[in-house]
Amino acid sequence: MEPVTKTQYPDSPVFYRALDKALPKIVRAEGCRLYDDAGKEYLDASGGAFVVNVGHGVREIAEAIGAQAAKVAYVNGTAFTSEPAEELAAELSALCPWPGFKSYFLSSGSEAVEAALKLARQYWVESGQSGKHKIIARTPGYHGNTLLALSASARGHYKKLYGDWLVKCPMIPAPYPYRCSCAGAADCPACTGRALEEAISREGADSVAAFIAEPVGGSSTGASVPRPEYFKTVREICDRRGVLFVADEVLCGAGRTGRWLALEHFQGARPDIVTMGKGISGGYVPLSAVLAAPRVLEPIARGSGALKHAQTFSHVPTICAAGLAAVRYINKHQLVARAASVGAVLQRKLAALKDLPAVGDVRGLGMLAGVEFVKDKASKTPFPRSLKFAEAFTAAARDAGLVVWPNVGHADGDNGDLAMIAPPFVIPEAEIDLLVARFSAALTQTLDSLSAKGGVR
Ligand SMILES: Cc1ncc(COP(=O)(O)O)c(C=O)c1O
Repeated sequence: MEPVTKTQYPDSPVFYRALDKALPKIVRAEGCRLYDDAGKEYLDASGGAFVVNVGHGVREIAEAIGAQAAKVAYVNGTAFTSEPAEELAAELSALCPWPGFKSYFLSSGSEAVEAALKLARQYWVESGQSGKHKIIARTPGYHGNTLLALSASARGHYKKLYGDWLVKCPMIPAPYPYRCSCAGAADCPACTGRALEEAISREGADSVAAFIAEPVGGSSTGASVPRPEYFKTVREICDRRGVLFVADEVLCGAGRTGRWLALEHFQGARPDIVTMGKGISGGYVPLSAVLAAPRVLEPIARGSGALKHAQTFSHVPTICAAGLAAVRYINKHQLVARAASVGAVLQRKLAALKDLPAVGDVRGLGMLAGVEFVKDKASKTPFPRSLKFAEAFTAAARDAGLVVWPNVGHADGDNGDLAMIAPPFVIPEAEIDLLVARFSAALTQTLDSLSAKGGVR
């Protein structure tokens, strides 16, 4: 076979999401750095898609994968268990601040959300309340791209094509202080979480199975942090109205915000089900998990005895071994504490970007930050979508040797441009200055090139 030299569609044998772009070919990665086949170096300031937390090139994780693959690579989770699955679950139970949570392992965040919502539905059916099926979610919000997870997401531009296949999930406004019209009012339904009560009443508590929310906003609200009492209020409403609370920690969990689970920042918050993904394997394999409280599993154990959800790649020994090695590496090197302490430095240094043109807001927690671009800072008017500002900035950042994660559409469903920053937790403090310098250079480049086209002013 001829070696593959052409890497862009239609000449490449691969097709990626964007068919109109040439992607650099990465051949080496170490710590926070990526290197392509032309020798160009990139600072990975987003850990790919919020995944790489322990850093690239950790040998002991690679070796744990190899050792397990050589020992028992795969058995099916309906027939056998394995040492890595049991031990990883024990580590996750120990890290979970609420007692007794048990783990179900899958591969992607979307799969974990899908399984978590099905688990919530099954819980109610086996508890004798089969009318409870609706999922209340938030807008903006994102929970994945499989059809139930997408149904619970508020991404109009992803959902448009598949409308007929999606289920209707009632939505409440997500806390998004920068764009909330309440101007900090103490009784704002969106910012306090009380909007959930209104939604349950409107839908009828007898029909609502679960409420799903990201404890700290991911790319949908650009790392917006809810008020301290938000999740205590959510818990209290869920208890009173008989609704399960699913905390989607796929993006913000595994230490990203400076606590193992982002929900730990909120007093009185207690989930019934937690979804995790991305950082629990540090990016070394695709691994996700559904963590369920004892009360959720008990009626199913007493009733049908089995979860009505199975996948070929669940509880896979090699994948669990990678997760186990990554979680143990995080613990051994105290990387969650580092995400908190160096994360505070990151937030402080990023805050200086607010003085730059087109930067409307900078916010976040720990090693998760969002920079929101606007056309007009005073009115917070977003750039028109036709300008593709976030995409242009992301390309300019890549040229400047900086990897960021773009998001669009959060301002009003169509418009809105964000760059997300989420570096590996091992980023040296000195590299944060480089990150900020490359960010500023990329912004100047973006504004210059869009101005030349007559777009930004
Ligand atoms: C909060 C949240 N939940 C779920 C998902 C879906 O995860 P995956 O892309 O691994 O399917 C994502 C992905 O970005 C996410 O941010």
